[in-house]
Amino acid sequence: PRPRRNQDRRHTNKGLAAHDDGDAPSDSRAFSNTPDTDPDLPGNREWGRAILARAERSTIGAEIVERNTVSSASELDSVIAAALDGGATWHSFTGEERAAILDEMGRSLERHRADLIEAMASECGKTIDQGDPEVSEAVDFAHYYATLARELDTIDGAQFEPSRLTVVTPPWNFPVAIPAGSTLAALAAGSAVVIKPAKQARRSGAVMVQALWEALDAVDIPRRVLQYVQLEDRSLGKQLIAHPDVERVILTGGYETAELFRSFRHDLPLLAETSGKNAIIVTPSADLDLAARDVAQSAFGHAGQKCSAASLVILVGSVAHSKRFRNQLIDAVRSLHVGYPWDPRSQMGPVVEQPGEKLRRGLTQLGEGEHWVLEPRQLDGSGKLWSPGIRAGVRPESEYHLVEYFGPVLGVMTASSLEEAVALANQVDYGLTSGLHSLDPAEIGYWTEHIEAGNLYVNRGITGAIVRRQPFGGWKKSAVGAGAKAGGPNYLIGLGSWADAPVHD
Ligand code: ALA
Repeated sequence: PRPRRNQDRRHTNKGLAAHDDGDAPSDSRAFSNTPDTDPDLPGNREWGRAILARAERSTIGAEIVERNTVSSASELDSVIAAALDGGATWHSFTGEERAAILDEMGRSLERHRADLIEAMASECGKTIDQGDPEVSEAVDFAHYYATLARELDTIDGAQFEPSRLTVVTPPWNFPVAIPAGSTLAALAAGSAVVIKPAKQARRSGAVMVQALWEALDAVDIPRRVLQYVQLEDRSLGKQLIAHPDVERVILTGGYETAELFRSFRHDLPLLAETSGKNAIIVTPSADLDLAARDVAQSAFGHAGQKCSAASLVILVGSVAHSKRFRNQLIDAVRSLHVGYPWDPRSQMGPVVEQPGEKLRRGLTQLGEGEHWVLEPRQLDGSGKLWSPGIRAGVRPESEYHLVEYFGPVLGVMTASSLEEAVALANQVDYGLTSGLHSLDPAEIGYWTEHIEAGNLYVNRGITGAIVRRQPFGGWKKSAVGAGAKAGGPNYLIGLGSWADAPVHD
């Protein structure tokens, strides 16, 4: 049975974002965000438990992966040719026609909510409190990009030419929302798509694509326009990225991957959202209870494996010596129940695979002057289940200050003023998300003016950007190539060319 949704919760988790990607254009005002499943309703709890019970032994999506794994250069050429062939019809549709199909895709993703949560839990260790909003975000992308596709028809005197073929290479950490967002944007713009999900999330990506295929089936459009692939051999990755028929690549992943793609093809038309090393600054004017909660959630949601995660908290002035804040934070983090998603008590799941050398260092080694406030512990023999860690005494320009670890560890820094805290936050090469906890308008104004990050959040956690309300994208080394923010009003324009590109202001 479909879960009941508590409509009252609509928007209640959508906090204030200070960054502005331009007002949404008029048509998209009809759009509203999809509510998450309310876990407080008993029927929904049972629904969730049934999904998680299945997830422990689930192989959902495996057949699709197997059928679509490519092992030779000629097979990959055929996939690209099929996408282009399907794209010829797709390309001929008006924005209005594409929008109607995108809306059907949104409904299909909603129908597959349980399957998608199951796939993410079984494959990537995603707990249901993280997986359910992720499905809502994917549904939002479908309906929001549908509104933008309609607008492509109505802008007078400007001819939008979508890329004929877009390759989408999403990450494993948001195994549904990011692949769905990039794919739906390209389809909304009028492009054919070849999607190659990260291997750690290949089944989740396959279940997502299956939902989109079913929407195509419903309106009798051949599935060819959307091709799913896994590649048996690394050299095929290079062939795919460097292929002359590929007119756009949307990458979400590490900065090094963006550089690798560029080394395959120097003129690659790339839209990449890459790494982050994000800080929340807490000043003495802050509501410290709220700050402790938001830091804990932003640092340890999905075991810290979000490009948007807080991996630094910078305590200003008296907050650095506040026993109350320290205890609040430690209590909030220590009390997180760590476990596999099928254990309904779990609030923080495992890391996606055994930590590599860098994350292991982040979880086990201290830099000069640092000490553990909470030392991460390995909780079972899998190597994937770690208790959350907090290290204090992180020094400016130390390894922990500057390097992204992508796991359940938070570093504490101190600063004598907000200016110094902002300088510390800006010293990192990346600029993806940033947070401020302060109740002082002058501090908020200073921080907004000087902080270098794509997404700024005031008195809110720094993960979980909401489609349309908080368009998402990076600055500095958190973005490579051209393009507007995902989930924002200009995103589709980056997926084609336009003689006189209009920009909504
Ligand atoms: N869009 C994701 C977030 O905001 C990365 O957390």
